[in-house]
Amino acid sequence: MRNSAADPFADIRKATDRHRAHHGCGAYPYDNGPLLAALAAAADARRILELGTALGYTALSLASGAPDATVDTIECDADHVRLARENFAAAAMDHRIIVHEGDFAAVLPTLDPGYDVAFFDGHTPVPALHKKLHGLLRTGGTLITANLNHGGTADAVRKALFDGKTWRSALIDEDGETAISVKL
Ligand SMILES: C[S@@+](CC[C@H](N)C(=O)[O-])C[C@H]1O[C@@H](n2cnc3c(N)ncnc32)[C@H](O)[C@@H]1O
Repeated sequence: MRNSAADPFADIRKATDRHRAHHGCGAYPYDNGPLLAALAAAADARRILELGTALGYTALSLASGAPDATVDTIECDADHVRLARENFAAAAMDHRIIVHEGDFAAVLPTLDPGYDVAFFDGHTPVPALHKKLHGLLRTGGTLITANLNHGGTADAVRKALFDGKTWRSALIDEDGETAISVKL
């Protein structure tokens, strides 16, 4: 997707690409941080949840759009956790971005419900995790799901997001990679 908005965290996005090249990991940064910032602002979010921190590019984007929000972000790779925490401190955002180190499935049950915005960017979406995200979002809360065009379990997640009963959803890009969904 073309990203014409100014991106205050473009350097961290580039650093994530450089990191992946030598780490050999799956830290592919999302392609549109400013969109996430705008969505967090539109929701006037106070509590934001992210799955897939990597080096912190999208957590910083979400936090920048909602200055009164706290962001809980989950990451299992210890190197990514360390680098993300360094980036949050350097941006003076470490007081309101909390990195939970561990597997999504282990961390999600430890969190309190009532999130305004959730962002899934942890490789291929999985139905069981999306059920948990539905439970953690408030009614009317916004879920952004990346990687919906990965096939496999992503197809079942896309079907559930467009069931018309639990979510009101729209794809936001031509290749069907990302959906925005409101919890009904
Ligand atoms: C696509 S990257 C996230 C990119 C990040 N949102 C950004 O835009 O810079 C996915 C991240 O999720 C982490 N991850 C993948 N599966 C996970 C799991 N089951 N539990 C916790 N972290 C996971 C990976 O280590 C990786 O850092």
